[in-house]
Amino acid sequence: MERVNRILSDDIYKKYLEKNNEMEADRKFCRHNMAHFLDVARIGAILNHEEAYGQEQEIIYAAALLHDIGRWKQYEDGTPHEKAGAEFSAQILLRCGFTEEESKIIQIAISNHRNTEIKEEKSMSGLLYQADKKSRPCYICEMEKECNWKEKRKNGKLDI
Ligand SMILES: [Fe+2]
Ligand SMILES: [Fe+2]
Repeated sequence: MERVNRILSDDIYKKYLEKNNEMEADRKFCRHNMAHFLDVARIGAILNHEEAYGQEQEIIYAAALLHDIGRWKQYEDGTPHEKAGAEFSAQILLRCGFTEEESKIIQIAISNHRNTEIKEEKSMSGLLYQADKKSRPCYICEMEKECNWKEKRKNGKLDI
C-alpha cells in the first residue's frame, strides 16, 4: 500500500481534499470527504474478494481515494466532478508511482463512477460504481426524503 500512502501525503491531493471540505462545511447531504473515500475503498476491497472482480488492492484504494477529488470544481464552475476528478488524478497518480497503464484504468473508473451503463461490468469501473453507491446509508439518512437520488438508486437496507 506504499503508493496509496503516497497519495495521502501528496500536497495537491491534500489541497483538493481541503477544498472539498471547505465547500461542504454546511452541506446536509452526503459529503465527499476522507470518511467516504475510505468507505468506498474498503467496500470495494470486500466486493472484489466476494464477487471476484480480479482487481489489485492498490488500484482499488487509489481509485476510491481519488474518485470524488474533483467535487470542489463542480461547486466552483459546474464541471462534472467525475470529469474533473479523472483529470486531476493523472498527475497525482504518476507522482505517486503508478504506471501510465494503471493510471488509465483508474481514470476511466473515475470518469464512469456515475455512469449506470457500466454498473454491471466486472471491471475496475463497475467495481468503483458499486462500492460508491453501496457506501451511502440512505436507510438511516435524515435527509433521504429531500435527496435527489432516484428512488431505485437509494439503498433501502444495509447489504455490505
Ligand atoms: Fe461522485
Ligand atoms: Fe463518491
